[in-house]
Amino acid sequence: MVEYKIKDLSLADRGKLAIEWAERQMPVLRLIRESLLRRKPLSGIKIAACMHVTKETAVLMLALRDGGAEIALSASNPLSTQDHVAAYLVEEGIHVYAWRGMTEREYFEAIASAASIGPDITMDDGGDLTVMLHKVALGERSGLDYEIGSSILSPEMAKKIRGGTEETTTGVIRLKALQRQGKLLYPVIAVNDSLTKFMFDNRFGTGQSSIDGILRATNILLAGKNVVVAGYGWVGRGIAWRARGMGARVIVVEADPIRALEAYYEGFYVTDMSSAAELGDVFITATGNTDVIRNEHFLRMKDGALLANAGHFNVEISVRDLEKMSTSVRNINEYVKEYTLPNGKRLYLLAEGRLVNLAAAEGHPSEVMDLSFGNQALAVKLLVERGALLDRKVYRLPKSIDKKIALLKLKSLGVKIEKLTEEQKKYLESWSA
Ligand SMILES: NC(=O)c1ccc[n+]([C@@H]2O[C@H](COP(=O)([O-])OP(=O)(O)OC[C@H]3O[C@@H](n4cnc5c(N)ncnc54)[C@H](O)[C@@H]3O)[C@@H](O)[C@H]2O)c1
Repeated sequence: MVEYKIKDLSLADRGKLAIEWAERQMPVLRLIRESLLRRKPLSGIKIAACMHVTKETAVLMLALRDGGAEIALSASNPLSTQDHVAAYLVEEGIHVYAWRGMTEREYFEAIASAASIGPDITMDDGGDLTVMLHKVALGERSGLDYEIGSSILSPEMAKKIRGGTEETTTGVIRLKALQRQGKLLYPVIAVNDSLTKFMFDNRFGTGQSSIDGILRATNILLAGKNVVVAGYGWVGRGIAWRARGMGARVIVVEADPIRALEAYYEGFYVTDMSSAAELGDVFITATGNTDVIRNEHFLRMKDGALLANAGHFNVEISVRDLEKMSTSVRNINEYVKEYTLPNGKRLYLLAEGRLVNLAAAEGHPSEVMDLSFGNQALAVKLLVERGALLDRKVYRLPKSIDKKIALLKLKSLGVKIEKLTEEQKKYLESWSA
């Protein structure tokens, strides 16, 4: 029997169409799905997944189900679920615990419900599922995730897990911290660290969809605006280049000297947040860090400045500081909240400071998620086949899989690449002449 807690099962027909639309643009995952369906390498495997419940994730879940897996899926953000997609997945036999607009408590309850399937494999986007399972297994009695997890899940559960996958930079950072402390209980593949993931998804996917979210929420004209991008990593540079492409004057705030220098020589104005605060019309955080924009910055900002976040957690813009210091708060529309500061200036926070591309738009275009989720599907297959041979460490997928995914994508795009002659290969490997 399919277990679920979603908004409305009657939305399933709309979900089906959306998922079909996504799958059309995901040729790599389609090929992997066909192969999984033929070979059924995941028969008898239980998967607990904590991922954004979007139409692209649905294509991945259906591919894994076709491979033989039983799947329980929860949302990896309280605001990112596409309710029609969740409904169709339930009709297709996936246990789903996700709806748009969950409270913090409901969010962790949903993760615990998905985990209660007793997984062989975990799939995570941000680390919340993995961390809950670890806190319960290790008896780390802190936070709402522990309180809720320990009331439903057994500390023994983690022992059965063959391995996990992690989708995003922030999740990988948390897993590596667990590994450093010797506390990681099973091997995890950092899908984020595949070249065919972060160079494309983080850059082109988040770059475009974050701008999309800001425009859908506000309908502002980007041309001529001063756009401050915090973080010039893979996500930040994607946003910076796309904002520039639409005519914005982009200012980059970066903490790492090499990346700051890169941004400088790529023609961006680079400065610190205190200086940028006075200049920006639109602020977009993409650092994976906390309190990147806080009290002292808000007070320096222009009247009418927009604040958006593209990083994984809603801690980059200090909503806490905004709430504390504001004299009044109004909802302008579903995605825009106005905060009036004691100095009379008004700041506009988008999507409650959560990932703007998933909360106010539809997340990454399917075409780019094809690469990320091609990696995810092959990572799950690898863990099922070879998880027992791996140590309790964070791994990257082998380079051969990265290349395979890139080649499949190029083929689907009809792009030819140069084939080296035997002589050229030899030349590149020789030292003498
Ligand atoms: N919205 C999405 O759909 C989506 C997609 C992919 C990744 N992400 C998330 O976006 C965030 C960034 O990911 P990434 O792959 O670009 O990471 P990254 O490590 O490549 O880049 C982050 C950059 O931020 C800089 N930084 C850290 N603290 C800073 C501060 N206080 N001020 C200015 N710069 C600072 C770092 O030096 C680094 O260069 C992560 O939280 C990741 O999980 C979101």
